[in-house]
Amino acid sequence: MTTTRVLTGITTSGTPHLGNYVGAVRPTVRASRLANVESFYFLADYHALIKVGDPARVQRSTLEIAATWLACGLDPEHVTFYRQSDVPEIPELTWFLTCVTGKGVLNRAHAYKASVDKNTAAGEEPDAGVTAGLFMYPVLMGADILMFNAHQVPVGRDQIQHIEMARDMAASFNHLYGEHFTPPQAVIEEHVATLPGLDGRKMSKSYDNTIPLFTPPAQLRKLIMGIVTDSKAPGEPKSTDGSALFQLYQAFASAEETAAFAQAYAQGIAWGEAKQQVFERLDQEIAPMRAVYEQLIKDPSAIEATLNRGADKARAIATPFMAQLRHAVGLRPLNTSAGGKSKSDKTAGCSFKQYRGDDGQFYFKLLDPKGGLLLESTAFENPKEAAQAIQSLQQQGEKALETWKDRLVLQAETDMLISALASFSQP
Ligand code: TRP
Repeated sequence: MTTTRVLTGITTSGTPHLGNYVGAVRPTVRASRLANVESFYFLADYHALIKVGDPARVQRSTLEIAATWLACGLDPEHVTFYRQSDVPEIPELTWFLTCVTGKGVLNRAHAYKASVDKNTAAGEEPDAGVTAGLFMYPVLMGADILMFNAHQVPVGRDQIQHIEMARDMAASFNHLYGEHFTPPQAVIEEHVATLPGLDGRKMSKSYDNTIPLFTPPAQLRKLIMGIVTDSKAPGEPKSTDGSALFQLYQAFASAEETAAFAQAYAQGIAWGEAKQQVFERLDQEIAPMRAVYEQLIKDPSAIEATLNRGADKARAIATPFMAQLRHAVGLRPLNTSAGGKSKSDKTAGCSFKQYRGDDGQFYFKLLDPKGGLLLESTAFENPKEAAQAIQSLQQQGEKALETWKDRLVLQAETDMLISALASFSQP
């Protein structure tokens, strides 16, 4: 059973554009359909607060990005699709990770350094206008990833450094407190080209050169007509090299269609005609999704309900895991072990892992500090129930072993199990 956990988030700071679709939404929706993959996709609305100070915009963007993901085919029954701010364990974990992250490491984060360099170049104080939120951005992101022990994190190149930082946080925490975190890996889509924007530079909110994904067809056509080209006349052969229009077409078309379009360039297609073809090809893919999007956006309560169900699934993992981490760092009821040289040291670092089986059902297992299997559950239909079982095992130990015995497959001596469970709650 080798299920890969894949996790990624989109910051809810704007309206999704074609670049987001080609670079993030389309590949992640496809990946979520692969076998043996358990996906976690979320709306990074805490991250949005770092850049956006406009509450209406944060809310609107959250709605738009959620609707986009759903309209593009994400199946919320099959994946865990949630809003970051619905999982209060994430900011709690952020604090734990803050306490094992070197300040010097954060000083070197690209986004922070870029701000400092800009200030310095302008003759300002290095930290002028820099919030502590921007500085802490990588730690919040580390908590997003480590909370669900994601193996793979599909991101753009600019985010690789953040994943490396999350690996460091995992290692530092594990070193101090036992093996709780899996080091994540960045997954970069090599073959997904960065999409050019209206001016030929990378399509990006910061360049103000984007084409909104679900803009009405007339507007889509108008924007495409405005893409920069050279001044070659109709009939003159045109070069596909460095043509933003061509790259845009290629991101949507099949290999054969792209070859035919290159042929048309060579034969001197007029720019107006080329743009019309690009519009038609894009709209062919976008139109059916746009129809779904427009329906979804009209019904925010349905999306809200979907996200709430996603939050339940996410918290079914996050809540017991956070309880385990609180215990590990010494945030424990005072009438439990002080954690000195008690017998629980042998079993300190045991951990519960919750996962989704290939059958779509929910399972958990208890591992010893070396990853050896101590106990596994049978299938639970609902993640909340699995979380309840974990919680009662952590809190009631032996008694819960009895209560849940029909749902558990024991893989170790009862004595060992009892002392492993005791490490979560008792001396
Ligand atoms: N930083 C990412 C971006 O701006 C969004 C993000 C937040 C994210 N948390 C994450 C991506 C965790 C992957 C994993 O694009």
